[in-house]
Amino acid sequence: MKILVVGNGGREHAIAWKLLQSVNVEKVFCAPGNGGTALMAKCENIAINGEDFENISDIITKNQIDFVIVGPELPLSKGITDYLNTRNIPVFGPTKEGAQIEASKSWAKDLMLEAGVPTAQGETFTDALSAKIYIDLQGAPIVIKADGLAAGKGVIVAQTIEEAKAGIDELFNGGFDRVVVEEFLLGEEVSVLALTDGIDLRLLLPAQDHKRIGEGDTGNNTGGMGAYCPAPVATPEILEKIKTQILQPTVETLRKRGIDYRGVLYAGLMISPQGDVKILEYNCRFGDPETQAILPLLETPLDQLLWACAQQKLTDFPPLQWLKGGSVCVVMAAGGYPASYDKGKVITGLEKAQDLGAIVFHAGTILDNQNIYTNGGRVLGITAIGDTFDQALNEVYQAVNCVNFDDMYYRRDIAWRLNS
Ligand code: AMP
Ligand code: GLY
Repeated sequence: MKILVVGNGGREHAIAWKLLQSVNVEKVFCAPGNGGTALMAKCENIAINGEDFENISDIITKNQIDFVIVGPELPLSKGITDYLNTRNIPVFGPTKEGAQIEASKSWAKDLMLEAGVPTAQGETFTDALSAKIYIDLQGAPIVIKADGLAAGKGVIVAQTIEEAKAGIDELFNGGFDRVVVEEFLLGEEVSVLALTDGIDLRLLLPAQDHKRIGEGDTGNNTGGMGAYCPAPVATPEILEKIKTQILQPTVETLRKRGIDYRGVLYAGLMISPQGDVKILEYNCRFGDPETQAILPLLETPLDQLLWACAQQKLTDFPPLQWLKGGSVCVVMAAGGYPASYDKGKVITGLEKAQDLGAIVFHAGTILDNQNIYTNGGRVLGITAIGDTFDQALNEVYQAVNCVNFDDMYYRRDIAWRLNS
């Protein structure tokens, strides 16, 4: 099988890497890919971005590609799956309608209510004044969410009423025309990704990412600074609740609405100190960096699993097989990220890190003349797996220590909750 992976992050490198471990996969193309996918054997980058549907469709025909896996939310929410489906090209990833589950917080909130899944209480507003009146009534802390794709920057967890109102102004003045205001939930977060064919679903191992830039989970939100898997906070009992109370009713409700959802249904969840679970958000794609921690533990061939979803044959698919033990992924970022940062710094020590047994996933990198340069905010995701988390942590930080580029930044406390 020849497969096209759309995207250029660490998530897409991890997907391509996993696909190429399968004997059935002859070649992987990445559009546009990054420095890491450029270096992999049997993998070719094509300089087209995921929103350029016509050119994507042309390269699929030209290279006789059998299957397309879409990484990021943007092409999904713009309808890449719908476009390719009309050309009879099998795609893993929901249609434009289904992708609203991530692209519109108010649409997602409606769906949650219709499905009867536990979530924070909240309301949607189309004007600042009504939102502020509601905030006065509810008090703080309170959470404000922009209704639209905001690259991880559309959520404000306000500690005071003033902060919440300033957040309302910021979002309405920043071009959003709807905001969701919701109850603040206390607890520990976990990401559970389900793969679905629109009817059935399978859960991947739970992961926890570290969204904040600073150690101790402080500072600004980022795309994610590291992850580990399986997150012990999601015990078997809690996972069962997540499956039966949240993911299954969601898939069922999507189906009832006539939405053909074949892809990842990613649930961002809050587990309360009492063990109750509520959904914070859905995403319509693999998480990043979670995927860089989850896929190295998966033994089932990824191509077959995703193909079964795209062909609506998940019910007959054998149980997923996983390696025992744990994995830890540490994101190495450009200094300044998530605000402004420089690009074009040469990266050294990648082979040394790999020689230690770690897996080096590239995110914002570019290959030029045999050298790898930084080309984004999140630059690399270094993952190690071990029989125990201690082994994985030890190995991952040894590998991180081998890598160098000017002004690099990473958190030294990934997976800290394991010992808390
Ligand atoms: P979201 O994009 O909806 O997942 O929000 C981003 C982050 O904001 C989440 O990962 C949480 O850390 C935080 N967050 C979102 N909603 C809530 C909530 N209702 N209560 C507490 N924190 C929240
Ligand atoms: N790591 C969070 C996300 O992928 O949205």
